[in-house]
Amino acid sequence: MEKTFLMVKPDGVQRGLIGDIVARFEKKGFQLAGAKLMNVSEELAKEHYGEHKERPFFGELVDFITSGPVFAMVWQGENVITTARGMMGATNPKDANLGTIRGDFGLTVGKNIIHGSDSSESAVREIGLFFKEEELLEYSKLMNEWVY
Ligand code: PPS
Repeated sequence: MEKTFLMVKPDGVQRGLIGDIVARFEKKGFQLAGAKLMNVSEELAKEHYGEHKERPFFGELVDFITSGPVFAMVWQGENVITTARGMMGATNPKDANLGTIRGDFGLTVGKNIIHGSDSSESAVREIGLFFKEEELLEYSKLMNEWVY
């Protein structure tokens, strides 16, 4: 099943938006495969954002993502990479439609609440950077006396 890496950034964690963001992906119908609250080291931040190292805001990106805990997640389901990007909204919250995560909660591009993989190659790379294989679960919905 297609998987993507999503991360509530330090601004989203500080503002208490983890639950709201998780709820959106659950309600959409995607399945959570793994999640953890964690600090991002400078080394991991530089690796994660490596493709942007020549951009003028690279230092700002690394400083911000290492500034406090993030909530790292792996979600799975049909077309999850593209659909999750749509649910996140445009990179700059000022351009993001209302109803998207950045459109509803964000104000500035430097603090845009959530990161999501932009391709299947990025998803594989980013999942591998943030999660060990044993931290990702495969499970199906139970149908029994307490779930019906
Ligand atoms: S994207 O979403 O990857 O297509 O956007 P991109 O423009 O390539 O941006 C790459 C990441 O850099 C963040 N970004 C910025 N941070 C600070 N200041 C400025 N001006 C800025 N512009 C872009 C953007 O949010 C992307 O980070 P992630 O974590 O992927 O959202």
